Amino acid sequence: MPSNQPDRYGVIGYPVSHSRSPYIHQLFAQQTDQNIQYDLIEVPPGILKAKIQEFMEEGGKGLNITLPHKSVVATYVDDMSARAVTAGAVNTLVFRDDVLYGDNTDGTGLVTDLENNQRFRIKGAKILILGAGGAARGIIGPLLNAHACSIVIANRTFEKAIDLADRFKQLGTVTACEIGALTSEHSFNLIINATSAGLKGGAWLYPPSIVNMDALCYDLSYSEVPTPFMQWTSELGAARSIMGWGMLVEQAAESFFIWREIQPNTKPVLEQLTGKTA
Ligand code: ATR
Repeated sequence: MPSNQPDRYGVIGYPVSHSRSPYIHQLFAQQTDQNIQYDLIEVPPGILKAKIQEFMEEGGKGLNITLPHKSVVATYVDDMSARAVTAGAVNTLVFRDDVLYGDNTDGTGLVTDLENNQRFRIKGAKILILGAGGAARGIIGPLLNAHACSIVIANRTFEKAIDLADRFKQLGTVTACEIGALTSEHSFNLIINATSAGLKGGAWLYPPSIVNMDALCYDLSYSEVPTPFMQWTSELGAARSIMGWGMLVEQAAESFFIWREIQPNTKPVLEQLTGKTA
C-alpha cells in the first residue's frame, strides 16, 4: 500500500448511522496531523466476527465497537486490557501483528470528563448509579480507581444490582439498594443515569427525593436536546444536570491515543460538537 494512503479505522454498531465518532476522530486527526480514515460500519450481530476479521485482513488498524456488540466482542479477542476485563466489554480494538487486542475506554472517558471538564472531585465522592446493565458495569471500576468514597447501585431489577455490587465489592464500598429504599438521607454527590430508560421509554420509578441541589446529575446518554433524566433532575432543583457528550469525546480521545500514541486536545472538539464554548 502506498504510504500516502490513510490508516483505516471505524466504528461497528447496529444501528450506527447516528454515531458522531467519525466526526470526532476526523477533528482529532486534523488537529494532530494524522492521516486516517474513520468509517461508520453497520454490522448485525450474526456476522460481527467475520466483519472484524475482514476489516483486519484488509489492513485496517483498529475499530471502535458500540451497541449492541461491546460484550460479545470481549469473547472474541486474543488479549484484553485489565479495564476491559473488569468492564466485561470492549469498545476499542487494536490489530497488531495479527493479534486482536481489546480495550475499554468508556470508564476512563467518564472519569476524565468529570475531573477535567466538569471539575468534579471523584475522590471521596458518594455516588449513586441508576441501572445495572452494561453501561453501569463499565464505569464502576474506573470510579473506584479514582477513589470514590462509595457507590450505591439502584436498579429496577434488584437482583441485577446485587450481582453487580458483589462483582465489585473487593475493589471498594459498593452496595445495592432497592429503589423503594432510596431516601433523601443518602445525600449523594453524584447521580449517574446508566439506564436505557430515556431511549426505551417506560415508567421512571426512581423517587424524586434522591435528587438534591448540590448533586451533580450526569446522564451517560446524550442527545441534541436535554434528556428526560436531565429535565427530571433540573425540575427537582439540581444545580447541575449534564449529559454524556464529554464522556463520548474523552473515550474517543483515549481510543485515538491507543491507536496513534498522540493525545488530542478534547476541548475544542467538545465545543464544536455541542456548539458551546465550555
Ligand atoms: P446496557 O447493557 O446497554 O446498559 P441493558 O442491559 O438493557 O443495557 O440495561 C439497561 C438498564 O436500564 C437496566 O439497568 C434496566 O433495568 P432492568 O435491569 O430492570 O431491566 C434499566 N432500565 C431500562 N428501562 C428502565 C426504566 N423505564 N426505568 C428504570 N430502569 C430502566
